[in-house]
Amino acid sequence: MVDLSTTIAGAHLDNVFFNASGVWCQHEEELQALLESGSGSLITKSATYEHREGNPSPRYLPLPSGIGSINSMGLPNEGYEYYLNYARKFDYTHAKPLFISLSGLSLADNVKMVEAFVQANLPCILEVNFSCPNVPGKPQLGYDIDAMDAALATLAPLIKKPFGIKLPPYFDIAHFDQVAAVVNKYDNLAYVTCINSVGNGLAIDLDTETALIKPKDGFGGLGGLMVLNTALANVNAFYRRLPGKQVIGVGGVVSGKEAFLHILAGASAVQIGTQLKEEGPAMFDRIKKELTEIMEKKGYKSVEEFRGKVKTL
Ligand code: FUM
Repeated sequence: MVDLSTTIAGAHLDNVFFNASGVWCQHEEELQALLESGSGSLITKSATYEHREGNPSPRYLPLPSGIGSINSMGLPNEGYEYYLNYARKFDYTHAKPLFISLSGLSLADNVKMVEAFVQANLPCILEVNFSCPNVPGKPQLGYDIDAMDAALATLAPLIKKPFGIKLPPYFDIAHFDQVAAVVNKYDNLAYVTCINSVGNGLAIDLDTETALIKPKDGFGGLGGLMVLNTALANVNAFYRRLPGKQVIGVGGVVSGKEAFLHILAGASAVQIGTQLKEEGPAMFDRIKKELTEIMEKKGYKSVEEFRGKVKTL
């Protein structure tokens, strides 16, 4: 028997898998489908203070040959009160812990949302998203390391309990070092989720010579298989630099193989975005089976046995 269970921020998950925030999680029906699926947990769509329609469509497309997807959703969500109400109603005796993603358009909005959740005193886990690349005029806080530090200096003491942040991909060793130094300052910052989409790619149709998505002149976040190696590098870079904290891996998981690689790089849990969007929540059972088969073949009985054990030459 193979044990796929894990613990994130003190919460037990029966298996390492859940949705990437943004996929299958805007409305209660979708969250219910995740609860009924083979996932080990679930996270809500990143909430802003007010309801948002998001960017004009087309705003998400899978790209040819299974290489991944491009999206510029623009944070469509029901507003934080919807997710707070959901968290209030949530059955916490359920085996799956609930993660709530917050993505205020300002620090003041993040403070108001965090305060509301803290006041509600619920056993859900907060994840603050510093990395949405798709809101016109709002740069990703994750790329302004001083501003992210200032935001954490305000939010971490308010949240008090263990929480996480969602980071954009970084591409330079100096940035891994700088971000890790900030994250390590906050004791209750228990985990980082890496990576959000690779921001501001451009997909163009050869025949029509037209950008594939409408918002931002066609610029959007890239996800799926094409970002796997960037995701693995970010997971491993932060796994090495954040002792005592955890990393949730996201990016490029289409089968048990990529999930295994994320864990080998150091991921304590694995979120799935593009593939979940394309295949639906039944995907979780397939991926669990594939990961189990790989572990059996290699003789691993638990994910702990190979987490972070990637060898280098
Ligand atoms: O556009 C979006 O809603 C994406 C959000 C994110 O990447 O965090």
